[in-house]
Amino acid sequence: MSQTGKFIVIEGLEGAGKSSAIERVNAWFERHFPGQERVNTREPGGTPLAEEIREIWKRPREEPMANMTELLMVYACRAQLVETVIKPALARGSWVIGDRHNLSSLAYQGAGRGLSKEVEGLSEITLGSFKPYLTLYLDIDPKVGLERARGRGELDRIELESLDFFERARQNYLSHAAADARICTIDASQPMEKVQQDIEDALAEALL
Ligand code: TMP
Repeated sequence: MSQTGKFIVIEGLEGAGKSSAIERVNAWFERHFPGQERVNTREPGGTPLAEEIREIWKRPREEPMANMTELLMVYACRAQLVETVIKPALARGSWVIGDRHNLSSLAYQGAGRGLSKEVEGLSEITLGSFKPYLTLYLDIDPKVGLERARGRGELDRIELESLDFFERARQNYLSHAAADARICTIDASQPMEKVQQDIEDALAEALL
């Protein structure tokens, strides 16, 4: 399937400010590419089936979820979203703005849960060479990010993890960003205005 649109992904730990960043990215596109079709997705989720899995997946429960179950469910969601929403949208020339994608699995299930080999294997099976055109990674110290996320109310199954888990995830994000020119790190600890400016600068550099 030929790909004519571009897939732009926003990544980051809890409390990094993804939601405001995504609003800003959408506003930027509206300004620079008015009338251009845009599809917003989130992972896990983004289709009715994947959203149902997300709900089961995120909810804390008495029965502990095995790490492999967590991993397979997230890739089931991703396969559904990529095949039925993202690839068709790109093929008809739409932009796709993603709230998380495969890098989250590398960071959370790979580094966080210690399943890097399994994540690599599933990435290959599920995505092959499919990759975002650009990823904006919002970098935040997990102590600061979790404090913000906790201020928002009840915690989901992942947010209940230890600080160590999130430290490992952060280091993984940073090492991928350092090795891949298509992943741009934004310092999310800066004042909101500066974060938003950095986001716009990164979009302009990659897309204008
Ligand atoms: P969020 O969309 O509100 O950020 O919540 C998604 C949660 O799921 C967040 O804690 C990160 C986690 N997650 C993974 O552990 N692996 C993944 O592959 C994805 C997409 C999300």
